[in-house]
Amino acid sequence: MRFTVAIDGPAAAGKGTISRAVAAKFGFAYLDTGSLYRAVGVKALEVGRGVIDPVVAAQLAGNLSQTDLDRDDLRTAMAGQAASKVAALPEVRAALLEIQKTYARRDGGAVLDGRDIGTVICPEAEVKIYVTASDEIRAARRHKELVQGKPELTVAQVLDDLRARDDRDAARDIAPMKPAGDALVLDTTELSIDEAVDRAIRAIQARTT
Ligand code: DC
Repeated sequence: MRFTVAIDGPAAAGKGTISRAVAAKFGFAYLDTGSLYRAVGVKALEVGRGVIDPVVAAQLAGNLSQTDLDRDDLRTAMAGQAASKVAALPEVRAALLEIQKTYARRDGGAVLDGRDIGTVICPEAEVKIYVTASDEIRAARRHKELVQGKPELTVAQVLDDLRARDDRDAARDIAPMKPAGDALVLDTTELSIDEAVDRAIRAIQARTT
């Protein structure tokens, strides 16, 4: 059985939480596509000693290993910015395209979250959800996650970081972040995690029953 749930949206809107819950509920596989770009971004920074070379980034994208994806520094703000930068490079996106497309149509169902899943990776997805929330709420949520490892971090810094990333992700020429025309837009600003997950589950059940 092929069944794809495409979950897109800006940084820290709740895509990962919703995706994991939905995948567990329906027994689908889950791919966090942002981690692919994060892995390429941090490695490209390392190789270039702080400078991202597009040719190197594309090579890295074509040769990602499980070890690259298991690094424990992929969730930092620096990794997020590096990911957003390499994600604007057409060669990097091309190198990561096939693996995502194949994953999306695997047997048994798949949930993928990212920025272009419903628009580019799997426009034929059975369910498309665009998860969003106000900038302030997203910054507060992400701050809560990051401040444990970095106590000096302020909400204002996280807000600036998210906005810079969203602007770059939405403005790029290739596969910009945007809702697919037929996506359900799920604004989680005033929703609890359970409520947001419940709405996503209902959208999927509407297509499966
Ligand atoms: O979902 P995330 O915050 O981990 O993603 C990190 C960056 O990777 C994001 O700022 C843009 C990029 N990205 C992308 O361009 N396309 C995707 N499908 C997923 C992530």
